[in-house]
This record gives sequence, C-alpha cells and structure tokens, in this order.
Amino acid sequence: MEGRRKQDTFLAQIGNRRDEHHRAVSTPIYFSTAYRHEKIGLNDGYDYSRSGNPTRDVLEEAVAELEGGHGAFATSSGMAAVQLTFGLFKQEDHFIVSRDIYGGNFRLFNIFADKYGFRFSYWDGKSYEELTKLIEEDTKAVFIETPTNPLMHTVDLERISAITKEHNVLHIVDNTLYTPYVQRPLELGADIVIHSATKYLAGHNDVLAGLVVAKGEEISEQLSFLHNSIGAVLGPYDCWSLIRGMKTLALRMRQHERNAQEVVKFLENHPLVTAVYYPGRSGMLSFEITKEALVEPFLQQLQLFTFAESLGGVESFLTYPVTQTHMDIPEEVRLSYGLSNRLLRASVGVEHEDDIIADLKQALDYIGQLEVDES
Ligand SMILES: Cc1ncc(COP(=O)(O)O)c(C=O)c1O
Repeated sequence: MEGRRKQDTFLAQIGNRRDEHHRAVSTPIYFSTAYRHEKIGLNDGYDYSRSGNPTRDVLEEAVAELEGGHGAFATSSGMAAVQLTFGLFKQEDHFIVSRDIYGGNFRLFNIFADKYGFRFSYWDGKSYEELTKLIEEDTKAVFIETPTNPLMHTVDLERISAITKEHNVLHIVDNTLYTPYVQRPLELGADIVIHSATKYLAGHNDVLAGLVVAKGEEISEQLSFLHNSIGAVLGPYDCWSLIRGMKTLALRMRQHERNAQEVVKFLENHPLVTAVYYPGRSGMLSFEITKEALVEPFLQQLQLFTFAESLGGVESFLTYPVTQTHMDIPEEVRLSYGLSNRLLRASVGVEHEDDIIADLKQALDYIGQLEVDES
C-alpha cells in the first residue's frame, strides 16, 4: 500500500494526480491505438495500444499495489486472465487444482487437457498431506480458488505456499470472491493472483474484465511478454470503468459483508433451508432448500433478488449453479463433492438488509405454502 495510507484512501484516489497535462482528477481515457514516434527508436513509452496504454497502466499499477505484486495485467475477461497465466506452461505439464471450482475454469482445464496435453489433478481442499501426495515430477502449479465456488470452502494459503515452495511449484490463487479487501494471497506466499474483475472489483455488473498479478520481476516479465503476444488485453474504456468501480470497493465490501452476515442468520433459522455455506467474509453464500422441485418456484417468486449468472455487483443476485455457472461439470462429479441440485448461490448486494431478507422470506414462505398445499 502506498506509504502509510489505508486501502480505502488508496482506492478512492486511483488515477488522481496522474494527468500532468491538464490535472484531470478522473484519469483520462486514451482511445488511440497508435502513438507518434519522434524519430527511429524514440517514443514516450507508448507505441501501440496492445503493448501498452496509459489508461491501462493506471489500472495495472493500482492493482499491483493493491495485491502487493510486482506486475499486473488487465485482460478482456477473467477467463482470458486464466488463459494468460497458463500461457506460462507447456505440453505434459501437470497441475493440481481445487475440486470445487468455477465451472468455466473446469471447462477451460478440460480444453487445455484435450488440446495442449496439460494434465490436471483435483484436490478437495481438505488434507494438506493429500495435496503433497498429488505433487508429481512435472507438477508446475497449484491453482486454488478460496473460498471455493459455490461451496464457500476456505483453505490455508500460507500452508499451501509452504508446500509449493518446498517442491518448487507455482502457487496461483483466484481471489475473485474475497478481493484484496479481504485477502492478499501474494503476502501469504502465493506467486500469482487471478481475478474475474467483472465481479467485486468492477462491482456494478457492467464491465467484463480480468486481472493477473504476479510477485517477482522474472515472472512478471514473462507474463508481460505473453500479455502482448496473446493480445487479450482490456480496452481503455473498460479500464477506466474498472478504475471507477474500484474506488468504492472498500465501501461496497463492508456493506456486502454486513448484509451477508444478516442473511446467514436468517437462513440458518429457516425450516426450509437445510444447509448454509458462508466463509465468514465477503458477500457470497450458498444454501440448500429441502427439495429440488421447489427451486424453480422459489426463483420465480423473488422480487428483489435477480435470478442471474454473476456475482459481486451492487444488486443482489441468485444463481442456480447446476444449470448456470457449473453446468459444464458432469452431475456425478458435482454430486461427489457435495454440489447438489438443491443448492442456490447468493451474491448479497448492498441494498438495505431488511429488504434483502424480506424478499428471501416471502419467497421461502411461498414455497412453504406450496408444500402444505401438496400434502
Ligand atoms: C471465481 C471465478 N473465476 C473466474 C471467472 C471467469 O471470469 P469472467 O466471467 O470475467 O471471464 C469467474 C466467472 O464467473 C469466477 O467466478
């Protein structure tokens, strides 16, 4: 973090005092893809927008600082961030990845396995001895989502880092659900952090973006080379939108978390809710209701929550992972680790907690009545 300033201050000030020409407070958006050269071999640090863009630089420098990394790279989506990171590896390399994982990551890992010959082992996040046993001679990285999505299981990143360091393996963490407001994996020993910045960092369900942050000069240089070579960079307008969203990250996270904690208390005491999964921080939680057949009427009955497939925005969302975010994970695999057909995932927004809980209550009351009518 910059000097002795707190994270809230750093976030609110992103981009300010960067425009030397006109002293704009909101960082300017540089749309130009090309930059004039004064003569051969002489430019002002920019020549072509894929290789570098002043608006993107403001974002990337801020994100590197926020996560405590050496270099940060803004990509066109969270999936592009994962793809960029795996650009570091080659055929036959082996990876250990979280078992309970975002369905899009599961799908991409299958593509990597089919087309590029990468090999994946899945770890359930429970036994660290088991994790150590999964490491092979060609293991190149351990890829962790914590909390996991959608079962919200957390792991000890410091413990994993101790294992990866001992075996000379990279430790990669998807920090989308917690954000640096809650957790800074690089400080806990991880080597690379990935974000779907589409979620909490942007925060308003209006920007698709990804980020990769790396510790250390060498790995940052490799990623910088790949970022430009692969080319899935974030456009200048989206960089600016993401900066604007991030300015209120701390405020939003506090409200998301407070609301989620109240929702957990409500759900835990409701007779139609059989399980609640909440990691204790941030605004994401999942819960199971008594019957799969009640999922559809429950979703139809919601009036404040939006039934939609994303998370981390100011508006409260409910997602049904088995037909949405995790539909690419075969049912038998999902069920084997506890992702049931009765599970709903909530991204608790920043609305007033009373209204959020009232909406859940009326929808649960409605399906409760359906059960009574049926019996
Ligand atoms: C944990 C996690 N990682 C990565 C992604 C992919 O990000 P994007 O949708 O921005 O491509 C998502 C998207 O839902 C996610 O939830």
